[in-house]
Amino acid sequence: MKKLLLSVALMAACFAAATSSVPVYLDEQRSIEERVEDALSRMTTEEKIAMLHAQSKFSSAGVARLGIPEIWTTDGPHGIRPEVLWDKWKQAGWTNDSCVAFPALTCLAATWNPDMALLYGKSIGEEARYRKKDILLGPGVNIYRTPLNGRNFEYMGEDPCLASRIVVPYVKGVQSNGVAACVKHYALNNQEINRHTTNAIVDDRALYEIYLPAFKAAVRDGGAWAIMGSYNLYKDQHACHNRYLLNDILKGEWGFDGVVVSDWGGAHDTDQAIANGLDMEFGTWTDGLSSGTGNAYDNYHLAMPYLRLIKEGKVGTKELDDKVRRILRLAFRTNMNTRRPFGSLCSPEHIAAARRIGEEGIVLLKNDRNLLPIDTDRVKRIAVIGENALKMMTVGGGSSSLKAKYELSPLEGIRKRFGDKSEIVYARGYVGDTSGEYNGVVTGQNLNDGRTPDELLAEAVEAAGKADVVVFVGGLNKAAHQDCEDSDRAGLELPYGQDRVIAALARTNKNLVVVNISGNAVAMPWVREVPAIIQAWYLGTECGNALASVLSGDVNPSGKLPMTFPAALSDVGAHSAGDYPGTPRNDGSGITDCKYSEGIFVGYRWTDRNDLKPLFPFGHGLSYTTFRYGKPAVSSDRLTADGTITIRVPVSNTGDRTGAEVVQLYLKDVESSLPRPVKELKDFRKVTIEPGRTAEVEFEITPDQLMFFDDGKHEWVAEAGEFVALIGSSSSDIKGTVKFKLLSGTSKPAGR
Ligand code: BGC
Repeated sequence: MKKLLLSVALMAACFAAATSSVPVYLDEQRSIEERVEDALSRMTTEEKIAMLHAQSKFSSAGVARLGIPEIWTTDGPHGIRPEVLWDKWKQAGWTNDSCVAFPALTCLAATWNPDMALLYGKSIGEEARYRKKDILLGPGVNIYRTPLNGRNFEYMGEDPCLASRIVVPYVKGVQSNGVAACVKHYALNNQEINRHTTNAIVDDRALYEIYLPAFKAAVRDGGAWAIMGSYNLYKDQHACHNRYLLNDILKGEWGFDGVVVSDWGGAHDTDQAIANGLDMEFGTWTDGLSSGTGNAYDNYHLAMPYLRLIKEGKVGTKELDDKVRRILRLAFRTNMNTRRPFGSLCSPEHIAAARRIGEEGIVLLKNDRNLLPIDTDRVKRIAVIGENALKMMTVGGGSSSLKAKYELSPLEGIRKRFGDKSEIVYARGYVGDTSGEYNGVVTGQNLNDGRTPDELLAEAVEAAGKADVVVFVGGLNKAAHQDCEDSDRAGLELPYGQDRVIAALARTNKNLVVVNISGNAVAMPWVREVPAIIQAWYLGTECGNALASVLSGDVNPSGKLPMTFPAALSDVGAHSAGDYPGTPRNDGSGITDCKYSEGIFVGYRWTDRNDLKPLFPFGHGLSYTTFRYGKPAVSSDRLTADGTITIRVPVSNTGDRTGAEVVQLYLKDVESSLPRPVKELKDFRKVTIEPGRTAEVEFEITPDQLMFFDDGKHEWVAEAGEFVALIGSSSSDIKGTVKFKLLSGTSKPAGR
């Protein structure tokens, strides 16, 4: 008995010793906040400082002594960037870092399908995880203010409601892998020209109603663990250490508990970096700012300069501890979460996801005479014309450039799908960008062609003359001044004389399909002459297959434009007032002020207000079937301040094939104390309907959706009075309306 008691006591002691030997910060039974406090209490000031800044191009230090790992980041947002050297932009030369290139985020937004965003986030998160990354530098949700912005292809279009609805599942999908999404570029990074020196001057209404909602949704609804400050300035402070954007709004009003990461080289001031909410500083060059020489990362603002200020007693450690707490929190959510999944790379599931998202995002802009889908029984010869039919697009464009495991071109996709029944001939038509290299990743394509534009055109016209159907694949590409980081486009027009080629093809063959590959709206002076037009974004690895599925009708197109295609650049708010790209100051500061004088009237809000007819409106996209909208019915025409009403609309498929329609709900405030858009997107549903069937689409309207941001009161306000709900197939194709009244006004704080 004595023996037994002794061994029980011994076991208890061992157990106690065993449990107490696990430090709190390593104990996954404890809450993250307990673990954060415990880890923090064990760290020296030097260890804390080391966590705040880069130690290599894409990583920051952990605390080896405590077993806290380094943090590894990666671009983002369309696939996992290949490995570069520790401190050089050169390729590391790995042979196992090829990825699946997912379609660009513009394409994802064009699916108008939150399920696709979840699939995207989950899949890319798995690739990031497999590659042992802790932070994915994406997604991007800057609002499409001008079609000249070289980086629009990385974003989710012009509408805050659409971008918010797409970003949330993307973030959740990524983070379900124990990989942090880093939503970028916060905020007001709406052009690439002068991106480091542009000071955005925007009123609070536009800030809260247009430019911030997608970031807020990512943080509050998506639970994003990281956010990246942008390069530009706002209120004369760089966004990476901006008191208003970071301390007041992000961390104050929205209660963000994650990490603010600087854009690479986006921090410029030590005091501001300490005080104004920046948590981690990364850089393009070794000293974070300018050149690659110097003593590595010690010169970063949040490195030795910060430590010196602390040691000299010039700043305290309150901010330091807050920054480290956030980084530790991120570590416990990611690389210190032993239960996170392992991820996978280039799996068949990821390839299927990339294809599916591409197929759902392709937009059928025009289809006269039902030219599409291509009828393989009738069409014996297809002429494919245009550089983008073969040009690889996953290499280039800046930091989102990838080393894709493969990229199936449109021409290969067309050959694969149609080649057994039809003869496929190819002609280049024009020569655009023949480069094929980014950061040492090469496409391996030789696109040089010494022929003159006239010779190329003659060959294309001849091929078109002999074909049953002509598919022109052109548009923009990822070269500077096209769809590319760090530069904007020079104009709305297609480059390289493509308009001349398209016009000649249209004269030669009436069965012409134009496929525009771009991340931006382009001008189409030939729009009336061309019967079928497809908007096909950058589709990544499965580009050719996705496009061929739509051309053949294997997939019925269901994408809708996430941005307005304006008839002219002067029809865009940012350009009509001459604001873009800003006015340089005369004070030697090097700063350019860019006024957003169109305020909240961005995209269709501008075309609506000025009664302009766009080339193609926001929300537009056709199908190979037809839909008939019935009369919308409302559950009550009176809405109380804490109530909801329901709108139901029957939508029938009146064609002969299954198709998906995006039913869009816009709201209009009939009378308001402040100017409001003619209508604003507030909800949408993507419904798949079989031929002859009807779907009952239901929307719930709450007073929240009726609110505008009252900048005088600094709160969201819904005013009592009359509203109209507009149900549409696009922002210009409204199928039915219902009126209702908000019985009493209501408001909520700015951050809610
Ligand atoms: C880009 C970021 C990117 C970072 C790291 C910057 O130049 O603006 O979007 O994540 O580089 O590559």
